[in-house]
Amino acid sequence: MSSRPFSNVRFSRRQAGKVAAGAALGSALVGGIPASRIFAQATPAAGEAELEIFSWWTTAGEAAGLDELFKAFSAANPGVKVVNAAVAGGAGSNAQVALQTRLSANQPPDSWQSHPGAELKARYVDPGYTEAIDDLYTEQKWDSAFPQGVIDLITVDGKKQLVPVGVHRGNVMFYNKEVLEKNGITVTDAWTMDDYFKAADTLKAAGVPALALGSKDTFAVVQLFENTLLAALGPDDFTKVWKGEVGWDDDRVTTAIQNLARYFDSVNSDHAALTWDGAADEVYAGKAAFTSMGDWLYGDATAKEKQDAIGWVNHPGTDGAFVAVIDGFTLPKGAPHPVNAKNWLIAVGSKEAQEAFAPHKGAIPARSDADASGFNDYMKWSAEAFGKDAVVPSLAHGSAASPQFQSAVNDAIVSFIVDLDVETFQQALVDAQSDEG
Ligand code: GAL
Repeated sequence: MSSRPFSNVRFSRRQAGKVAAGAALGSALVGGIPASRIFAQATPAAGEAELEIFSWWTTAGEAAGLDELFKAFSAANPGVKVVNAAVAGGAGSNAQVALQTRLSANQPPDSWQSHPGAELKARYVDPGYTEAIDDLYTEQKWDSAFPQGVIDLITVDGKKQLVPVGVHRGNVMFYNKEVLEKNGITVTDAWTMDDYFKAADTLKAAGVPALALGSKDTFAVVQLFENTLLAALGPDDFTKVWKGEVGWDDDRVTTAIQNLARYFDSVNSDHAALTWDGAADEVYAGKAAFTSMGDWLYGDATAKEKQDAIGWVNHPGTDGAFVAVIDGFTLPKGAPHPVNAKNWLIAVGSKEAQEAFAPHKGAIPARSDADASGFNDYMKWSAEAFGKDAVVPSLAHGSAASPQFQSAVNDAIVSFIVDLDVETFQQALVDAQSDEG
């Protein structure tokens, strides 16, 4: 298998207590402060009229978060037209394909979204599509701004290749507070898979689907699987399985797949027609109790003003582990607007931009000097876990395994949703591993 840089590390975050001037979280980015005092710009973008940014951030909270990054860039680069080239599809299912077509035709945008780890290396760095940005790190003093664990993840073959903007937690169960209360269900971070299935039985008997799933987004089921696998293996062996040090034929993998099948006993009947955010709507509306999703869901709920309807807890059985889904932006080789591209990275790497972005996106800032005093309750919970938990990579979000392995699992999941055949799915995992060599 290709290199897997996460190694079950604990990332300590230095949380500055003081509010940065004019930068209360969630407020407009520069709060009246001249942008020139906030961002040290590369050089004026004379002659470069545009900046084209490629991502898959099109849902409510994603678009709101992206807009904060655009505002940060525009405040420092007035007059440059920002072209939003986002391609819809959760976890980049469509965007990544469209981007490969552009990159192979030598038509890159000015920057694109990537996760660190296997995705960054195999899709973009190894084929030579990116420029290393070590100089920018030195110039912007980013080496001390980001946690070392994050820096290690964005470094490929000794060179820095990504500016991280936010850190999502992938192993979260969100729930409708009223539905749980009505059914006498309480949850804590220490809950187990057995606790979940007991609650699911109660909910089923009450005629409420326990789990809202949006399996139209294949990644939503892959993510459900990886969270269930984490519960079965624990963080150490979960990390080892991506390195080929724990076999896919392990009995605990069988248990995880059996549990994956069991969720379907009490799931929304229209799951095949819904995307992840459609499934989230079911929970906000009280039509289902839980949904297992990364915390971009909290950004979605916030954008739809539904955040008060929901609570959160880690995916059952995964207390003490943090599945990190880190988003960042690259510097392309041959960017059409190279000065603007650099200025984009400078803007999104800034403390102010990350503080403005995070609450809309449901993330925590990637920078460790972000002002934690303005975090909402969800962000506080996530930041605390990120600081003390075992940090592990995500398969569904590109970091844990090669794109080939990920795509083999995606294909196997699509069949599994239909037949719930545990043995066939496990064999597909074993085969995918042996194909990796
Ligand atoms: C992830 C990405 C998140 C969020 C999610 C759903 O891959 O890192 O920022 O957008 O997909 O689309």
